Amino acid sequence: MLTAIAIFLVFASVVLVLWIGAQDVLAERMTPGRLSQFVLYAVFAAGGLGELSQVWSEIAAASGAAERLFEIMAVEPAIKAPAEPKPLPEPARGEVAFDNVHFAYPARPETSALRGVSFHVRPGEKVAIVGPSGAGKSTIFHLLLRFYDPTSGEVTYDGVPVSEADPRELRRRMALVPQDTAIFASSVRDNIRFGRPDASDAAIERAAEAAAAAEFIRKLPRGYDTPLGERGVTLSGGQRQRIAIARAVLRNAPLLLLDEATSSLDAESETLVQKALSRLMQQHTTLVIAHRLATVLTCDRILVLDQGEIVEQGTHESLVVRGGLYARLAKLQFQGT
Ligand SMILES: Nc1ncnc2c1ncn2[C@@H]1O[C@H](COP(=O)(O)OP(=O)(O)OP(=O)(O)O)[C@@H](O)[C@H]1O
Ligand SMILES: [Mg+2]
Repeated sequence: MLTAIAIFLVFASVVLVLWIGAQDVLAERMTPGRLSQFVLYAVFAAGGLGELSQVWSEIAAASGAAERLFEIMAVEPAIKAPAEPKPLPEPARGEVAFDNVHFAYPARPETSALRGVSFHVRPGEKVAIVGPSGAGKSTIFHLLLRFYDPTSGEVTYDGVPVSEADPRELRRRMALVPQDTAIFASSVRDNIRFGRPDASDAAIERAAEAAAAAEFIRKLPRGYDTPLGERGVTLSGGQRQRIAIARAVLRNAPLLLLDEATSSLDAESETLVQKALSRLMQQHTTLVIAHRLATVLTCDRILVLDQGEIVEQGTHESLVVRGGLYARLAKLQFQGT
């Protein structure tokens, strides 16, 4: 109805103007040239106004989006660098210690995610963290990377409490392969370079090779320049994970944090990922949240976490002999495969 009325009004006014104009020309109050001049200018002016209304709606949409961006930029992080950060020792050793750490997520202050966790990882050691889903395994990484501060207790890296170090400096010394990889809407090359922004193209390709990712990247339509969609929608789970491993290889940090997510991998890519990971693990201190026994068996020590507490620790053999939670989990996996 509204459109019909609007169109009617527009044409009615055109007819009206021409009618009056024609009357004036006939009565010789106006020359025909003057009338056509008026009509032409009126069309230009109306077109301009119409254009303006379109631009205006675009401006309104853009300012709405910009407002959200400014809101995000104005957020003050809860984790701040200390005014005088304590320097981390040079060269980095990759040594980690948790001392009686208690922690609850701010979103759920009433339930503790970690309850009195203490452990020490020596430089070069490979330690596996195993435990049921929701035990608090990833939470240990979050505290180590200082995404959160513990409620009580202390987390130290190379002997320096993480709360007293500069978070940038601290994170520079860690390479994380997270449970769910963040992929950006950019090229494969840029996504791998995220691990070390100043890396050369040759270094990126070597990292992809080491992460068993080079082969699938070569098969992509534009190789390393192929754009990956928002959040990596154009990649499979296993491919995304190998991009994350390539980032970690490129980063070459003294401490490697692996949060294995293997649910989305088929047997072949699992073997590839496994190979890439074990190569990477050989060179650095490694904390690995392991879901597969293959990984656990290559580690020096196993921490078994349950409901935020370390309930057992030791080697695979000693834990199997103990017959506790680990022995149960191990038995389930052997039956499952
Ligand atoms: N951001 C968050 N806010 C509130 N609670 C959280 C948050 N992240 C995790 N939790 C809770 O903390 C507990 C430990 O979670 P965590 O992610 O460490 O488990 P996980 O051992 O890594 O499990 P999975 O093997 O499934 O990855 C869980 O009960 C979980 O619900
Ligand atoms: Mg987890």
